Amino acid sequence: MERTVVVQIALFGLLLALASTLPNKDDWDVYSFHINSTVTSRYATTVITSRVANRMDESKEIEFHVRIPKNAFISKFRMFIDGQVYDGVVKAKEQAQQQYTEAVSRGESAGLVSSVGRTLEEFKTSVTVAAHKKVTFELTYEELMKRTHGKYELQIHARPMQPVRDFKVDVYIHEEAGISFIDVKGGLSTKDLANAITKTHADKQAWVYFYPTVDQQKMCDSCGDQGMNGDLVIVYDVNRDNGLGHIKKSDGYFVHHFAPSDLPRIPKNVVFVIDQSGSMHGRKIEQTRIALLHILNDLAEDDHFGLITFDDRISYWKRELVQANSKNLESAKNFARNIQDRGSTDINEAVLQGARMLNAHNREGSASILILLTDGDPTSGVTNLEKIQSNVRQAIAGKFPLYCLGFGFDVNFNFLEKMSLQNNGVARRIYEDSDADLQLKGFYEEVATPLLTDVTMIYVGGTNLTQTNFSHYYNGSEIVVAGEITDNNIETFTPQVVAISSNRRITFSNPNETVESTGTVSDDHIQRVWAYLTVKQLLDKELQLSGPEKEKVKKEALELSLKYSFVTPLTSMVVTKPLGETTDVLHKPKEGERSQTRPPSRGHPILRQPTGASGSGFRSTGSFPHQRYKHRQYTPFRGYSARMPDYSDYEFFLPTVSAPMETTDAPLLHRFLLKAEKQTIPVCFDVSGAVLLKLLHHPSGELYVNGELDSVTNGGFNKIVIHFKTDQHVEIDTKGVTVRDGQAVTHHTGQDITTAGSVTVIVRNKEIDIGAGDMRLVILVHEKNGQKFLWPVLRQHPSANNTQGLLALEPIVYEEVHQVPVTKLTIKNQEIDVTSDSTVDYTLVSPPTMPCWLMSAESALQRPVTDFYVAQL
Ligand SMILES: *[C@@H]1O[C@H](CO)[C@@H](O)[C@H](O)[C@H]1NC(C)=O
Ligand SMILES: *[C@@H]1O[C@H](CO)[C@@H](O)[C@H](O)[C@H]1NC(C)=O
Ligand SMILES: *[C@@H]1O[C@H](CO)[C@@H](O)[C@H](O)[C@H]1NC(C)=O
Ligand SMILES: *[C@@H]1O[C@H](CO)[C@@H](O)[C@H](O)[C@H]1NC(C)=O
Ligand SMILES: *[C@@H]1O[C@H](CO)[C@@H](O)[C@H](O)[C@H]1NC(C)=O
Ligand SMILES: *[C@@H]1O[C@H](CO)[C@@H](O)[C@H](O)[C@H]1NC(C)=O
Repeated sequence: MERTVVVQIALFGLLLALASTLPNKDDWDVYSFHINSTVTSRYATTVITSRVANRMDESKEIEFHVRIPKNAFISKFRMFIDGQVYDGVVKAKEQAQQQYTEAVSRGESAGLVSSVGRTLEEFKTSVTVAAHKKVTFELTYEELMKRTHGKYELQIHARPMQPVRDFKVDVYIHEEAGISFIDVKGGLSTKDLANAITKTHADKQAWVYFYPTVDQQKMCDSCGDQGMNGDLVIVYDVNRDNGLGHIKKSDGYFVHHFAPSDLPRIPKNVVFVIDQSGSMHGRKIEQTRIALLHILNDLAEDDHFGLITFDDRISYWKRELVQANSKNLESAKNFARNIQDRGSTDINEAVLQGARMLNAHNREGSASILILLTDGDPTSGVTNLEKIQSNVRQAIAGKFPLYCLGFGFDVNFNFLEKMSLQNNGVARRIYEDSDADLQLKGFYEEVATPLLTDVTMIYVGGTNLTQTNFSHYYNGSEIVVAGEITDNNIETFTPQVVAISSNRRITFSNPNETVESTGTVSDDHIQRVWAYLTVKQLLDKELQLSGPEKEKVKKEALELSLKYSFVTPLTSMVVTKPLGETTDVLHKPKEGERSQTRPPSRGHPILRQPTGASGSGFRSTGSFPHQRYKHRQYTPFRGYSARMPDYSDYEFFLPTVSAPMETTDAPLLHRFLLKAEKQTIPVCFDVSGAVLLKLLHHPSGELYVNGELDSVTNGGFNKIVIHFKTDQHVEIDTKGVTVRDGQAVTHHTGQDITTAGSVTVIVRNKEIDIGAGDMRLVILVHEKNGQKFLWPVLRQHPSANNTQGLLALEPIVYEEVHQVPVTKLTIKNQEIDVTSDSTVDYTLVSPPTMPCWLMSAESALQRPVTDFYVAQL
């Protein structure tokens, strides 16, 4: 009974965790916390870097404690202490077990990864740091994005445990197919924090930056003295060509994403097998009724359906499947409203009856689906788990998928998972919470629209393929196959998909291929996608097998986990700490495992999961609780909007002048970009000469940012000055930063953090980050023809709305005037002459060139450009 042993370890771990004294967080200072996530071809690699200083006169235990998505594999962990690097090493679990046991027997809290909430796992470790020394923790994890409901979701959990001066999240997405939309959701993108998020979307690439100030980190919904604790969820999808999809090849490996959507739906036959045993009593049965009513409403007229409820007896609504017409649906809803909890649980008989109904209902050109919802172990009829599994397997005989929904934590999830996998389905956990009905409905929606059945993915010239046969393909999902290209011979490699689309056999070929340029130095990205997918599928396979076959698959999965350094349920990461300290061992829990935060059994909870505290909800419902908030995006040089405030009342402070500087030579042109609302192509305009520009003026916040355009390069600015209150001034040029706080003056050229009043200046490599009040501005240092120049990017717009300047502009709203080629746009009912041109978007660290509509500055700004001139920096 492997499971029992594991549970004991988890509980033992909990007791130890409770017994050991927690490090006192006041004694250390998390002075920098970065999350950097790069997504390419739907494969995300995220690096969390936390830098902590021990400010005390004695050595202290410092903790690193983060949450990562359950689907991810940790692939690297390192600590930097006093010039030394301590690398975590991935080892087979058995091998690491001894070190773990030793640590536990010494009474030390070993490092661990444990499951929290629905989508996250916790990673925790600690290290002793000498007085006034620093430690850097760096954790890397990888995951393949899964498409559900027509989108991918990248979940980033931010919980630095303190407000952090240098906090940032940088997300970069690159999809060759083109990004069709991108949104930022989750608990951290609401209200107070929304304007710390900037989002840039340019066809194949997208960037999301989240730069909250220290004050904001205390202000948000779930924040406090402990700083932020919540999620950013980046939601996006890619363009589809409806053919064979996209194939990316690199270094002898390929990954194929297949997700056509312009196919007709296939009518389905669906049987719902619903547990109504006594344990479903109360809210569970109530939520099940509600979900069923919604699901019945969503059935299409050409769907056929059946409904079975069971305890120790089976109740049929009807013994056979019937058409989902309004009369039948009404009757089924009545049946659903009257489902009552009683008795024990005969899963065996119920699933067999469901299978019998589907088997008896042979309908040409349809897709059959069996859905089981249960909240407990089988307690009546056949109760031997293996016997049930073999009965069910025999009854279904591979003809349709079985989906098992395990409600709550009293279910034997391993059992359900194994049974689903044996029958081409998946198991899903339904969390006991107020939104359980939405979770049920969300799952149903994933399988509501079958588009293809009997999908076979064929790769001539491919080898070591991941799963290639899929019984159903549903709208909004995606089939991903990865493999090796035999002898890396791209010429002979021919992919093809054969499938059945409502009675018709169809073949997809001729992909829109993307071949990675072979010039890139050893890009193992696609190979890692292959390894990730292979390990996941081997772990699923291992679950279904027994005996020597199981051992073989397990060995294979273990070898790959070790080779690619993945922390999986078969491996552990061993972190050797500095001299005199112990070794940490990090285990990844299995999904079926009860973790320390879950109640071990009904009625005896040890620690309840705080509802809604950790994370933004069930990923399958498609509706985030925070969706109702609109986010305003603040990116520099947005378009003019009607809400441009009247600022005559403070011209007193910094008078604007209307005379541009005289230039005798041919003037240098600086090109500015204005993002457009609802349109992908931005607007651009040129400003000539070495003028002084008003970047951001916020009189009530006493904040003024001005910049001087470079007179040597036509890139950007050579000097930017920030005035805050009356005392603090920050001057940035291409050589460094000067901070004046009253009479005190400091110069900074290397990486550094300084504070002056409530102004924080973080000097990084090629990036100066300034926080002043509730504003956060980043000045990027770019280089062109060997000349450096500056470019300001507003990462956090001041919350007040009476700001002005180039950085305060809102996106421009335009329409193209219909003609070919386009030479005019309409802006505010005015036709404006434009030419199709291009510009470089310097708001990004690696600036891309993008197309833009070039127009006069006056048209773009909707006022004379001289309104943005200032007399002095
Ligand atoms: C984030 O990670 C990517 C890939 O490792 C790297 O190229 C990039 O420089 C990193 N960005 C930051 C801001 O550290
Ligand atoms: C491939 O992509 C191009 C543009 O990216 C598109 O015009 C073409 O129709 C696509 N081909 C197929 C077979 O879908
Ligand atoms: C599949 O999804 C796409 C995009 O969401 C939608 O446009 C299309 O109508 C759907 N197809 C069917 C058959 O529902
Ligand atoms: C890939 O397949 C070849 C045979 O086609 C086999 O020799 C090799 O071991 C496989 N590699 C992996 C990593 O499974
Ligand atoms: C995949 O399906 C094809 C055709 O249905 C079949 O010939 C083949 O054996 C299947 N392969 C596997 C691995 O199940
Ligand atoms: C500015 O914000 C205040 C309060 O937040 C609001 O009352 C006022 O109407 C806003 N002004 C404009 C021009 O939006």
